[in-house]
Amino acid sequence: MVTGAKRPFVPITEIEHSAFCRPEDELKAKALAEELKVNVRWQRIPTDYLHLSAEELDQRIGRVRQELGSKVTILGHHYQREEVIKYADYQGDSFKLSRDAASHPESDYIVFCGVHFMAETAGVLCGPHQKVILPNLAAGCSMADMAPMHDVLDAWDDLIELLGDDGIIPMAYMNTIAGLKALCGRHGGIICTSANAVAALEWSYRRSPRVLFLPDQHLGRNTGLKLGLDLEEMVTWNPFKPLGGNTPERLEKAKLILWQGHCSVHTRFTTRQIEAARQRFPDVKIIAHPECTMEVVQAADMDGSTEVIRRVISEAPAGSVWGVGTEISLVNRLAKQNPDKTVFCLDPVVCPCSTMYRIHPAYLLWVLEGLAEGVVVNQIVVDDETRHYSRIALERMLQVV
Ligand code: 13P
Ligand code: SF4
Repeated sequence: MVTGAKRPFVPITEIEHSAFCRPEDELKAKALAEELKVNVRWQRIPTDYLHLSAEELDQRIGRVRQELGSKVTILGHHYQREEVIKYADYQGDSFKLSRDAASHPESDYIVFCGVHFMAETAGVLCGPHQKVILPNLAAGCSMADMAPMHDVLDAWDDLIELLGDDGIIPMAYMNTIAGLKALCGRHGGIICTSANAVAALEWSYRRSPRVLFLPDQHLGRNTGLKLGLDLEEMVTWNPFKPLGGNTPERLEKAKLILWQGHCSVHTRFTTRQIEAARQRFPDVKIIAHPECTMEVVQAADMDGSTEVIRRVISEAPAGSVWGVGTEISLVNRLAKQNPDKTVFCLDPVVCPCSTMYRIHPAYLLWVLEGLAEGVVVNQIVVDDETRHYSRIALERMLQVV
């Protein structure tokens, strides 16, 4: 792991993370009570769990995990901290984890170590006999929160009134609430992840001349460019302005309407960081997540989902050098797993995704011990109608890769 000169660190998404941002060290879990002192947003948890040390947590999680056996499948997103992801039966990006959620009917429970929209998706895709659990209900996604249902419904009504039913279809990134996925299912649209956004957008253009892409303008723009669209053919939709801040003529000419949302972790990466990395290591390869800005993705050598980033670096030749534009927990893990390569985060002061980080091992232990006692803590439930329509859009997604 390459380390820069010591300098003050900058919290990304929330001030709460300033206490954890030690980019030159691995982020080791402290007792939950310690982490809460810096105002990490948290869900109430029985006080017994607050003061358990990392070692005690590890022992108890190991014990209860063994006791539960195949009754439980634990899924872990690549951004989860070490002390949590080590217990995941399956690790992956959002696309792979949705497939994993759909393919373990033998487990009564799926414990999703990730964020809320991922657990909700698992709840839609798994069988009716299964229950999905999110260890900490405060683990949301700030990008998903940028597209609340009422704002999107208002925008959708305006667009249909202007362009007609055949003039546009919706396409939602996985990082959305289930209600928006259902909107896609109802109106002939599709879901995508960063692993299949190009194929999903092609699918959409086979059915409609225009697409409303939400909520990540950057993934949308990067995907539009990959498909050969011109920047002139894309507009952003600002939910706080009438017609999203566009004229009717501009919307009629557009092929891709991009909801004005973003990821506060990935928009911290800059072309200046890439230039600095290239100066320091002339042979460096830059790989970025497509939630980064268009400028960053274009200045990188390649881009891809977290699973693609993991695979490319793991398969790279010994001695290669990688500057990575994604969340620090994954970059640190890749650096550790690839000691024969140099792997570093493009932003030397980047923090973890603060919401992914809310899955402290104490929460994992709490929900697992609950299951062992027959108590289901933090089940994520999607109502039947939302489940029905969001599943239609998700199944389309699973077929287009
Ligand atoms: P992946 O699907 O690439 O894992 O991305 C999920 C995510 O939230 C990235 O910020
Ligand atoms: Fe959401 Fe960004 Fe965190 Fe991914 S990294 S879960 S998009 S806030």
